[in-house]
Amino acid sequence: MLFFNTLKFILKSKFSFFKRLEFSIFANYFKNEKVIQLHDKQFVPFVSAQEIDFAIAKIAALVEDDFADETPVFVGVLNGAFMVVSDFMKHYKSPCEVCFIKMASYEGTTSTNEVKQLIGLDQDLTGRTVIIIEDIVDTGNTLVALKELFKKQNVKHFKIATLFFKPEAYKKEIKIDYVGIRIPNKFIVGYGLDYDGLGRNLPEVYQLKE
Ligand code: IMP
Ligand code: MG
Repeated sequence: MLFFNTLKFILKSKFSFFKRLEFSIFANYFKNEKVIQLHDKQFVPFVSAQEIDFAIAKIAALVEDDFADETPVFVGVLNGAFMVVSDFMKHYKSPCEVCFIKMASYEGTTSTNEVKQLIGLDQDLTGRTVIIIEDIVDTGNTLVALKELFKKQNVKHFKIATLFFKPEAYKKEIKIDYVGIRIPNKFIVGYGLDYDGLGRNLPEVYQLKE
């Protein structure tokens, strides 16, 4: 009886399947001991390639649900988002376009709080549905800079999708429309994310070893 009541509670619980999955990531990945050395720092496994793919498939399905009847333009934020954009596009089956913009704010493992635009938009996006694709949203400084930039473009919709989100570090009001995985305020590398240039080629994500 207790078993059935517990099962009923879990099924009725407002924690969705995806929320529980996000939670299980933390429980499982601390156990793994593989250590990666990048420059002077060590990193330990945090999110597997399979869980990353699952999270990206989830975001792609949600975006497709909302915009399958349009031809959205996905704007990848370089450098970090190149892997997310590539895998996202493979999951997104409806008509769409892609372009890239290059922003930088990080030096080493900390944000400089100043966002530089290194490569700009080369396309007229007037009246288009724009979906920003980020690898990670941290302080939100990059999003503020992007929002400012797209205000001048007169787009139809401006939405934000990110694979990773650090709620404890986020200091801005801008709504993030699609979030893959919420993570604690720790520095991570892999799957496009770097520590001073290294680690982007790792197929899974590692966090700084304490
Ligand atoms: P924000 O402007 O502070 O939100 O940070 C956005 C950018 O900083 C991301 O797109 C990344 O390029 C970089 N960044 C933020 N957190 C991390 C991290 O934990 N590891 C690697 N890069 C990060
Ligand atoms: Mg980025």
